[in-house]
Amino acid sequence: MKKVLVTGGAGFLGSHLCSQLIHQGLDVLCVDNFYTGSKANIKDLIANPNFEFMRHDVTFPLYVEVEEIYNLACPASPVHYQFDPVQTTKTNVHGAINMLGLAKRVQAKILQASTSEVYGDPEVHPQPESYWGKVNPIGIRSCYDEGKRCAETLFFDYWRQHQLQIKVQRIFNTYGPKMHPNDGRVISNFIVQALKNEPITIYGQGQQTRSFCYVDDLIEAMILFMNTPDDITGPINTGNPIEFTMLELAELVMKLTSSKSKLSFKPLPADDPQQRKPDITLAKNVLGWEPKVALEDGLKETIHYFKNVLNISS
Ligand SMILES: NC(=O)c1ccc[n+]([C@@H]2O[C@H](COP(=O)([O-])OP(=O)(O)OC[C@H]3O[C@@H](n4cnc5c(N)ncnc54)[C@H](O)[C@@H]3O)[C@@H](O)[C@H]2O)c1
Repeated sequence: MKKVLVTGGAGFLGSHLCSQLIHQGLDVLCVDNFYTGSKANIKDLIANPNFEFMRHDVTFPLYVEVEEIYNLACPASPVHYQFDPVQTTKTNVHGAINMLGLAKRVQAKILQASTSEVYGDPEVHPQPESYWGKVNPIGIRSCYDEGKRCAETLFFDYWRQHQLQIKVQRIFNTYGPKMHPNDGRVISNFIVQALKNEPITIYGQGQQTRSFCYVDDLIEAMILFMNTPDDITGPINTGNPIEFTMLELAELVMKLTSSKSKLSFKPLPADDPQQRKPDITLAKNVLGWEPKVALEDGLKETIHYFKNVLNISS
């Protein structure tokens, strides 16, 4: 049975990935320090004999025997990664060095959960993988953006220098059940505010666009990528190319929750990109993948999850 390590496995994406890998019959070691993840996210897996949990901080070396590593450990939402920015950079950089060191020692294949944030505030739309990005190196988002960029550098240097089998996946906005209710990300924000009939916060005029990928689609791409031949290193964009403005999203969430909320307009935060949309041509060609779940269907699942978390009966 193949032994797979998932760092950040108790987080939003990590817990879905662990479930899916277990479902496929693999032996999963989930490592997490519960910085943003939770026991609740993995409670259905704990009793499974193919699942093992280890509380560990990836900024420290890890000595385990595995054949594949999915490196997801890192707080992903601005409120969490800006809370302790030095720790965020350490998790990205030291975490990558430690996991790459582990991969080198045990000759494991390793996949990095990178991000569309490596493109910063892009001048090119949609963003292909060949675009190098426009990132502020000294801003409040830099611990995450530059941390992830440095992690990508490390992955490619380990590949060039030590012939490691690497996969670098650039993940665009993903949403779904098990998102943190207070992480300040737009989908969770809107749903929680709508369910509580509180004002829905729109930054700027709400004309900035985002594209949203449902978690099941994203996890499918991640596992497909891990199983590609060794010469496929990425980076590969994965996300949903269909764009929505923040206003459109707010209106859809309000409709699906039958909310009485009003819109509340606030100033744009620093370095907030105006537009972000993946070019997924490479993912289509190399992985034979594209997202299938429509925003409305994914939102219904997510709203159902948040109703349970918030104890709201329908
Ligand atoms: N969700 C998205 O839309 C998105 C988009 C782009 C990239 N990503 C990347 O995907 C990965 C997972 O994101 P997520 O949305 O599931 O976020 P998340 O915050 O829910 O999960 C991150 C997990 O990593 C753990 N963690 C943080 N620091 C750690 C450390 N030092 N040692 C061990 N564990 C640590 C957290 O406790 C948490 O369980 C992250 O690397 C993120 O950058 C996510």
